[in-house]
Amino acid sequence: MKEKLLLSNYKFKSSNVNSTLLSPPLQGGSMGESFHSDLSIGTNDGTEAERKIVSSTLSFETIDRTKHPIIKTNSLEKVYDMGKVKVIALKNIDIEIYPGEFVAIMGPSGSGKSTLMHILGCLDTPTKGKYFIDDTEVSLMHKNQLAKIRNQKVGFVFQTFNLLPHLNVLKNVELPLMYSGFKSKERTKKAKEILKNVGLIDRMTHKPSELSGGQRQRVAIARAVVTKPTIILADEPTGNLDSQSGNDVLAIFKELHNEGNTIILVTHDTQIAKIAQRIIYIKDGEVADGNLSL
Ligand SMILES: Nc1ncnc2c1ncn2[C@@H]1O[C@H](COP(=O)(O)OP(=O)(O)OP(=O)(O)O)[C@@H](O)[C@H]1O
Ligand SMILES: [Mg+2]
Repeated sequence: MKEKLLLSNYKFKSSNVNSTLLSPPLQGGSMGESFHSDLSIGTNDGTEAERKIVSSTLSFETIDRTKHPIIKTNSLEKVYDMGKVKVIALKNIDIEIYPGEFVAIMGPSGSGKSTLMHILGCLDTPTKGKYFIDDTEVSLMHKNQLAKIRNQKVGFVFQTFNLLPHLNVLKNVELPLMYSGFKSKERTKKAKEILKNVGLIDRMTHKPSELSGGQRQRVAIARAVVTKPTIILADEPTGNLDSQSGNDVLAIFKELHNEGNTIILVTHDTQIAKIAQRIIYIKDGEVADGNLSL
C-alpha cells in the first residue's frame, strides 16, 4: 500500500527555476514516486508581474529529525500596534531548526521575514507564543538576559551592514568581544584572526566609508561570527551587493556552514536559496511551507 505523504514533510529538488519563488508547489505525492508539480515564480519585487509556470521533477529526501532542534517556536505571533491599526506581521509560526542546518527563508515582500528574523535573533520579542534556543525559553527573558543570549549564541548580518561609521574595521569587529568581557589584547587577536579569514586584514585601520559594499558586508560577517556563535542569521545579506561581491559573501556562509554552524538566511533570490538545505516559505505572516528546497 502506498503511504500518502505531505510534501511539506520532505525536501524536493527541482530544476529549471531561475527566478524568485512566489508560491510553494502543490502538496501531495507518494513515497518513491517522481512526479511533476507546478511552481509559481516571478520578479524580485514580490509581484507576480512576470509570473510563469515551470514544471519540475520532484524527488524526495527525508530530513534528519532525530537531533534536538537548536531553534524551536510555538505559535509565535507578532502584532505591531499602530494605535487605530494593528498590523499582524506573524501568526501561528511553528518552526524547528536543527543544529548545523542551512535554512533559507523566502516569501513575498511584507510577508514577515525580517520580523521573524529579528525575533529569532533576539533583537525583538514576540507578542504571543514561545521561542526556545537550545531548550531555553527565550520568549520569557528580560532585555538584559536577551542581550546576553544574543551575544553568546547568535550572530546577525543585516542587508545594510549596520557598521559603526566612526570606528575602524578592527574596532567594529572587536565590539561584540567587548560586550563579552574580553580584554583588549585578546579582542584584537581574535578580531584580526577573523579579518584574515574574510580577506580584510589589510583594511583593518580603514573606516567603513572607505570600503566597498562587499567589503563592508564581509566586515559585518566577521563582526557577527567573532564571538563564535553557533547560530548565524542573515537578512538579505547580498541584497545590496553586485553579483561578484554577493558570491564572495555566500562563499563565507558556505564555509561557516561547513564548519558546523546553523545558518538562517533570508533571500529573494532562488540562486542563493539553492545553497540552502531547505527553504521555509512565509506568506501573509504564516509558514506556507517549512520544507522546500531547490
Ligand atoms: N516596526 C514596524 N511597525 C509597524 N509595522 C511593521 C514594522 N515592521 C514591519 N511592519 C509590518 O509588518 C509586516 C511584515 O514586515 P517585514 O519587514 O517583516 O516583511 P519582509 O517579509 O521582511 O518584507 P521585505 O521582503 O520587503 O523585506 C509588513 O506589513 C510591515 O509593514
Ligand atoms: Mg525584510
